[in-house]
Amino acid sequence: MDWGMSNRISRMIKPSTGHSVMLACDHGYFMGPTRKLENPRKTIEPLLPFADTLAVTRGVLRTSVDPKWETPILLRVSGGASILKEDLSDEEITTSMKDAVRLNVTSVALSIFVGSNHEKQSLVNLSRLVDEGEEYGMPVMAITAVGKELEKRDAKYLALACRLAAEIGVQIVKTYYCENFSRVVDGTPVPLVVAGGPKLNTEMDVFNLVHNALEDGAVGVDMGRNIWQSEHPVAMIRAIRAIVHERASVKDALQFFEDEKKGKGVESHAHV
Ligand code: R5P
Repeated sequence: MDWGMSNRISRMIKPSTGHSVMLACDHGYFMGPTRKLENPRKTIEPLLPFADTLAVTRGVLRTSVDPKWETPILLRVSGGASILKEDLSDEEITTSMKDAVRLNVTSVALSIFVGSNHEKQSLVNLSRLVDEGEEYGMPVMAITAVGKELEKRDAKYLALACRLAAEIGVQIVKTYYCENFSRVVDGTPVPLVVAGGPKLNTEMDVFNLVHNALEDGAVGVDMGRNIWQSEHPVAMIRAIRAIVHERASVKDALQFFEDEKKGKGVESHAHV
């Protein structure tokens, strides 16, 4: 692997632990002003010290992220559909590699829609992005989007979608956690991170998801709503960091979350 590509990956997936906590704030690209992300800067700023990577579009990057902040950027470069459409799969590449390089981002991300009306279009778009990424040393993340059809969140479907992305040549895949997730990991010869999906009922549900995904072989999370829609987003991301980077148990993460909430945080859990 070329030095630039390898260096960019090391900035996102921490070599000290081999894991990563990515903060996903790119929802507006098709969902508009998502609850608690209406003002992106307000949501992002307090969480950034605890994120290994921030996922955004170029619009949010230029308007709401201070260029002096050092967190590596995962740039969402696909779009073209909105939640008003039944079919969310009709996406194209919406940001050029040239602009991604100008923005000095660390990686680019595009959704693929395996099994949808626009399956071929999304896979060909991904191939083009990977070709350009190879040219510029820019890692590409494929996101195995399931859109409104959340029932597709099973190991058979996700293993297929993740494998297709790996075969096209991406450096990393974002997918969903599911039962038998190790089957998805085993069939995908590149690192996997998991999204959180819509907000879960309890903190324990979120910590279980993160813990199980890591146990099954995910390198980390690229999570949004379950962090910033929480009443205590900083405590939430810090507890997730403890699981991802320190292999904290769910019980310890819960205790850590409760302590953080009350302002009794343990300093050693900060930045790994
Ligand atoms: C969708 O807009 C993006 O791919 C999100 O980055 C992804 O779904 C992760 O965010 P969440 O944890 O909120 O699902």
